[in-house]
Amino acid sequence: MADKLWGGRFREPSAAAFERFSESFGYDRRLALAEIRGSRAHAQGLAAAGVLDADEARQIETAFDRLEAEFQAAVPEPQPGVEDVHTYVFQRLEALAPAAARKLQTGRSRNEQVALDLRLYLIEQQPRLELGVRGLVQALAAFAHRHAEVIIPGYTHLQRAQPVSLGHHALAYAEMLLRDAGRLRDAYARLSVSPLGSGALAGTPYNLDRKAAAHQLGLKDITQNSLDAVSDRDFAIELVFVLSLLGVHLSRWAEDWILYSSSEFGWLVLGDAYATGSSLMPQKKNPDALELIRGKSARQIGNLTQLLVLLKGLPLAYNRDLQEDKEPVFDAVDTAAACLEIAAGVVATTGVDAARAARAASDPALLATDLADVLVAAGVPFHEAHQAVGAIVSRALEEGRDFREFTAAEVAACAPQLAGKALDAAAWRALTPAVSLARRDVVGGTAVAQVQERARKLLL
Ligand code: ARG
Repeated sequence: MADKLWGGRFREPSAAAFERFSESFGYDRRLALAEIRGSRAHAQGLAAAGVLDADEARQIETAFDRLEAEFQAAVPEPQPGVEDVHTYVFQRLEALAPAAARKLQTGRSRNEQVALDLRLYLIEQQPRLELGVRGLVQALAAFAHRHAEVIIPGYTHLQRAQPVSLGHHALAYAEMLLRDAGRLRDAYARLSVSPLGSGALAGTPYNLDRKAAAHQLGLKDITQNSLDAVSDRDFAIELVFVLSLLGVHLSRWAEDWILYSSSEFGWLVLGDAYATGSSLMPQKKNPDALELIRGKSARQIGNLTQLLVLLKGLPLAYNRDLQEDKEPVFDAVDTAAACLEIAAGVVATTGVDAARAARAASDPALLATDLADVLVAAGVPFHEAHQAVGAIVSRALEEGRDFREFTAAEVAACAPQLAGKALDAAAWRALTPAVSLARRDVVGGTAVAQVQERARKLLL
C-alpha cells in the first residue's frame, strides 16, 4: 500500500473491483498541469514557512519543470491502479525527488487540491470558450451582412407573421451569444478564488501565506471558509449552466436552420462540408451537423442536472461524491467548444436561395399589419383598421387574390367602417416586403440599414 497516499492505517489491500470503481485517473489526468501549478504554489508556501529548506524547494521545482514539460507535450496516459491525478503526480515527483516529495503533502489535503485544480483547469479553458463564442458571433454577423437584403417571412407561433431580413434573423442568435459571453465573464469572475490553505476541511496549521499563493496562481482572491472551500462546486455549476444555456441557444438556432433548409422552406442551402447523405436514398442531403448541435444541448442540460443533483444532499464538508463532478464539467466544456466550432463552420458555408426566400416573403398576408398602418395614416383608429384589414384579408384568402388589387368598391364592401375615409390607394398598392422592412428603421428593427449597421458593429 506504499503506492497510496493514505495506506498507513490499513492492514488489508483494497478489493481490486473497488480500486477500479474508485479510481478517477482515467479522466482527472487532464488536471495534471493544474496539479503541478497548485503544488508549486504550495511548495513555495512551505519553503517560506520553513517546512522545506531551500535545497528541497529547488529539487521540487526542478522535478516539476521536467514533469510539466512532459505533461505539456501530452496528457499522461491512464495508469491502471493509480487512484487519481494527485496520487500520480506525487508518485512521479517522488521518483525524481524522493525526500522532498515526501514533505510536500505537509499541511494540505487532496480535498483542497482537487477544488483548486478544477478552478485552474476551467480558467485555462476560458480563452477556448470565449474564442468559440466570438468566432460564431463573427460568422453570424458576416452572414447577416451578406444577406441583410434577403427577405424571409418572420414567424410567430410558426405561422407567417411579418417580413424580416434574413440577416436580422441571424443576428437574433448573435445577440443571445453576446449575452452568453457576458455570462461567461461573470462566472469566471467568481471562479478566480484560491482554496489553498483550507486543509482537509478545517484550515492548515502551518504558517502559509494564502494570499501569496493565490497571487502566484494568478487568482484574484482567497476563500473565506475552509469547510465551504473544499466542498463548494458553485463555480463549476455556474459555468456549466452558462454552457447549457448556450447549448439551448444553439439548439434553437439549429432548429430554425434545419427548417429553413428543408424543401418546405428552402431559403437556406447547407454546404456539403457540414451535411451528410443517406445510404439508401440517393437524393438526400441531411442537416446532421445542425441536428447534432440540437442534440448536444440535451447532453449539456444533463451535465448541469447531474451537478445540481450531485450537490443537493451533500453534508459539509468534502465527500467522495464530489469526484463525480469532473466528467460532466469536462464534457460540458468540450461539448460547448465543439458545438461552437461546428456552428461557425455551418454558418460560413451555408448559401441562400434568394428567389425561394422572395417567393415565400411575397405572401401578401405578411403585409396585413402594414396595410392597417396605411389606414392609421388616413386617420382610422388602429383597432378599426385592424378589423377592416381582417375582413379584407379574409376575403382575399377566400378568393385567392392579393388584397392590394382590391378596388375601392370592393374595400368598401368588406369594410363599411372605412366609408368616407380618404385612403391612400397609392401607398396601399405600393406595399411590398421591402417597404415593410424599410418602415421599421428603428434600433433593433429589421430595416436593412439597421441590420447592416448592427452586423458591422459586431464584425469589429
Ligand atoms: N479524487 C478525489 C476527487 O476527485 C479527490 C481526492 C480526495 N479524496 C478523498 N478521499 N478525500 O474528488
